[in-house]
Amino acid sequence: MTESKLEAWLEETRSFAPPASLAAHANAQPSIYDEASADPVAWWRTQADRLTWDTPPTKSLEWDLPNAKWFSDGTLNATVNCVDRHVEAGRGDKVAFHWVADVDGESRTITYRQLLSMVSQAANALIELGVKSGDRVAIYMPMIPEAVVAMLACARLGAAHSVVFAGFSADALASRIQDSDCAYVITADGAIRRGAPSPLKPAVDEALQSCPNVKAVLVVRRTGADVNWVEGRDHWWHETVDRQSDVHVAESFPAEQTLLIMYTSGTTAKPKGIFHTTGGYLTQTAATYHYIFDVKPETDVLWTAADIGWITGHSYIVYGPLVNGVTQVMYEGLPDSGGRDRWWRIVEQYKVSVLYTAPTTIRTLMKWGEDLPAGHDLGSLRLLGTVGEPINPEAWIWYRKNVGRDNCPIVDTWWQTETGAIMITPLPGITVTKPGAAMKAFPGISVDVVDNDGNSVGNGEGGYLVVTAPWPSMTRGIWGDPQRFVDTYWARFPGKYFAGDGAKKDDDGDLWLLGRIDDVMNISGHRLSTTEVEHALVGHPMVAEAAVIGASDETTGQAIVAFVTLKLSAEQANQDQAPLIEELRQHVAKVISPIAKPRQIILTPDLPKTRSGKIMRRLLRDVAENRTLGDVTTLTDPTVVNMIAGLMGEGGED
Ligand code: WT7
Repeated sequence: MTESKLEAWLEETRSFAPPASLAAHANAQPSIYDEASADPVAWWRTQADRLTWDTPPTKSLEWDLPNAKWFSDGTLNATVNCVDRHVEAGRGDKVAFHWVADVDGESRTITYRQLLSMVSQAANALIELGVKSGDRVAIYMPMIPEAVVAMLACARLGAAHSVVFAGFSADALASRIQDSDCAYVITADGAIRRGAPSPLKPAVDEALQSCPNVKAVLVVRRTGADVNWVEGRDHWWHETVDRQSDVHVAESFPAEQTLLIMYTSGTTAKPKGIFHTTGGYLTQTAATYHYIFDVKPETDVLWTAADIGWITGHSYIVYGPLVNGVTQVMYEGLPDSGGRDRWWRIVEQYKVSVLYTAPTTIRTLMKWGEDLPAGHDLGSLRLLGTVGEPINPEAWIWYRKNVGRDNCPIVDTWWQTETGAIMITPLPGITVTKPGAAMKAFPGISVDVVDNDGNSVGNGEGGYLVVTAPWPSMTRGIWGDPQRFVDTYWARFPGKYFAGDGAKKDDDGDLWLLGRIDDVMNISGHRLSTTEVEHALVGHPMVAEAAVIGASDETTGQAIVAFVTLKLSAEQANQDQAPLIEELRQHVAKVISPIAKPRQIILTPDLPKTRSGKIMRRLLRDVAENRTLGDVTTLTDPTVVNMIAGLMGEGGED
């Protein structure tokens, strides 16, 4: 559909009511908003009853901005809530995961009873290696069941896991291990990507050269590739875990025990260790999962197509779903591992009823054409979700028509690593949705859009998204850096949490997210900071200066464009630039991750700067997106921008 046709069509059919059949039996009925807003803290306390507490909390919220405690005198064990209690309630034979391998035809079915055995054995193995409550354990693993087991084994012992996305480089892994002083690492020999092994252990070995405090490494054999082995430090999972007793008696921990650390990019070169605690995080991940995905544990098969290396995997593959005791699909591969219709074959085979993914993936599937979903029976689907970036109406509509066959509600869910769980979303049986809008705060959550001075904007106006009251799954801070926590989130608008996103209230007061307003980029739903990539580029011996921007991109949402000045002599500068550009792209991949590789690098003799020496990223973005240039009068040398615009055409595009 062309853009103007789409607009005209949206004008006619700009909202979608929930199907009556779903609305009638939806977990969330319209009264939920009033029930929650009457007394949000009390409402959250009732949601905490979804958990099995060893000591039920008598306290709900203690709030000393920016420090929140929820349910602090309660005690519980996160893993018991995810696994043991379902087995004890007689649901041990229920499937927890249909694990689908990257390789076509390979799969594993894991029941809750089997999950309990696996987690108990892993917990016993971690005890043998020395892991104790309060320790930090880094997990650097592919999408295999052992990754979930590793997380749950740490949680069972009261040790915080810090999962590092397996696509990150050795350097990125090392800095994360050091920052939160992890004494243990759980990894695999490698991952399988489109049928081929992709090594992980070498990156761990390299990282650990600068992490002397790591005492033990537990290694799952996934690919069977030869690996380097450090005697005394390295332990095979199949040797160390498999011989353990499958009984482990879980201890109880305080609600505010740290459950997890997840590093995410901020506006500086150093990622932030966002940490979450147990009681509040589990309460909100479980409640949001129940209401937003309208979970019916008896009949649903839910698939969150995300990686456990990101917060989406933590909250909506591991904790939210397992607390709810549901059956899930967990998929190891890429959307086209084994063919471009792979996803649709999985939906058909496992009768997936709820699918949750990112707009960037929807756009990729869309590019592959509607014949692929049409060629499969997707009739089991009843609800669709998206997360990670603003979804463009065209992708929303494609998803609804071609995947949801025009009768599945779409929940566009806004949240962040820091918020721990979904904050803004439609409710599938209630909300009349609009393509591209995340709509409303979840019950018990208070958000607003404010202007520069922190005043609430009216309907039809845009501004900054803020959260105006504490919520159970809010991050308890940045690991080791309380001041940065205050400065980043709580200083811009006193008394309010500043999310870093722009947003708009439409004429009905519904919320539309507009993307980041800071120097954070969103590449295929992955969060990266411009500064982080600049830092990596400047670390290359030939680079003098670098400016990085996120330019809009049809598939990935944003793509990285880097403007680089070199330390070269005139003679060197006249040589062919292509090999150097490629070298710089590989350099960024090595320092951060292949996901941080710039789409385009423009070598330029100069960068546009203000008289105070700040790089004008706004102008570079205009250049990269072919827009007419904004105000250039504050530049020291306004001609620089035109020169760069001229160079753009020559940049090394893929
Ligand atoms: C940033 C958070 C939450 C899991 C995935 C990303 C953007 C997220 C939406 C949405 C528009 C969205 C925001 C946010 N974002 N969901 N539904 N609509 N934008 O987690 O890496 O912490 O990134 O993702 O810009 O600030 P994250």
